[in-house]
Amino acid sequence: MELGLRDKVVLITGAASGLGRCTVDYMLDEGARVLLADVNEQALATALEETSAHETSGVVLDVRDFDACKAAAAEAASTWGQLDVLVTSAGVGGGIDFFKDETPEDWKALIDINLLGTMNCCRAVSDIMVEQQSGNIVALASEAGKGNEKRMAVYGSTKGAVISLVRGLALELGRYNINVNAVCPGVTDTPMIAYLDEQSRARAAGFYPLGRLGRPQDIAAMITFLASEQASWVTGQAISVSGGFGRS
Ligand SMILES: NC(=O)c1ccc[n+]([C@@H]2O[C@H](COP(=O)([O-])OP(=O)(O)OC[C@H]3O[C@@H](n4cnc5c(N)ncnc54)[C@H](O)[C@@H]3O)[C@@H](O)[C@H]2O)c1
Repeated sequence: MELGLRDKVVLITGAASGLGRCTVDYMLDEGARVLLADVNEQALATALEETSAHETSGVVLDVRDFDACKAAAAEAASTWGQLDVLVTSAGVGGGIDFFKDETPEDWKALIDINLLGTMNCCRAVSDIMVEQQSGNIVALASEAGKGNEKRMAVYGSTKGAVISLVRGLALELGRYNINVNAVCPGVTDTPMIAYLDEQSRARAAGFYPLGRLGRPQDIAAMITFLASEQASWVTGQAISVSGGFGRS
């Protein structure tokens, strides 16, 4: 199947690790041009080195900084003359404490990065995409944003809010030919879940009808499809990629 991503310009946040990094490879395999954005300068440099055979560029970006998000979007558009796709994969994990044991300090980064950072990036690209009368946004939410989990109340809240954001943006931006969707992974094997020991990983795998944790490729494939021409009539959706866990 031809996805129609050749020469498309793709901005990926959180591009230096995990799901973002894997999505960079999927997009490059399809012939897209990719601006990798990440707050981790060293990991970004490594990712740029690894992808240097392709048309890539990089920007150190903290998604909490709205002006920096606007500058990154403008850089993609000025370097390559267009900005077709935004993938928001920058995020931080939760799942440490029960809510009753947490304080507002524990929530700040989750809300600032996962929710406000996603809003910053979506807003930063929207002027360019509206002007172009075309665009595609894929936001990383989570299965925890649909049903939530113990010890993940705030993390899940940020992801539930991202799902709601995506639905609102799909309604507002559809008239400009801009698709907006969320991908909701289950527990997927990236540095974000490095804190899980073998026993916890096995217990988590048991929650999924398919009996295993996600692989970054499982998620990157869905992101790439949603960003493509083949998904041009899909918008406002929160798609579970979670081994059968989410069935609504
Ligand atoms: N791995 C999972 O099990 C899982 C499940 C559901 C959803 N998700 C979501 O997928 C997204 C990617 O997660 P991952 O597993 O690839 O994690 P990861 O930790 O491997 O990668 C996250 C990347 O985001 C970057 N980042 C963090 N804060 C940033 C900021 N303020 N500005 C810019 N970049 C920043 C990090 O430097 C890192 O490169 C996250 O939004 C996460 O919540 C992950």
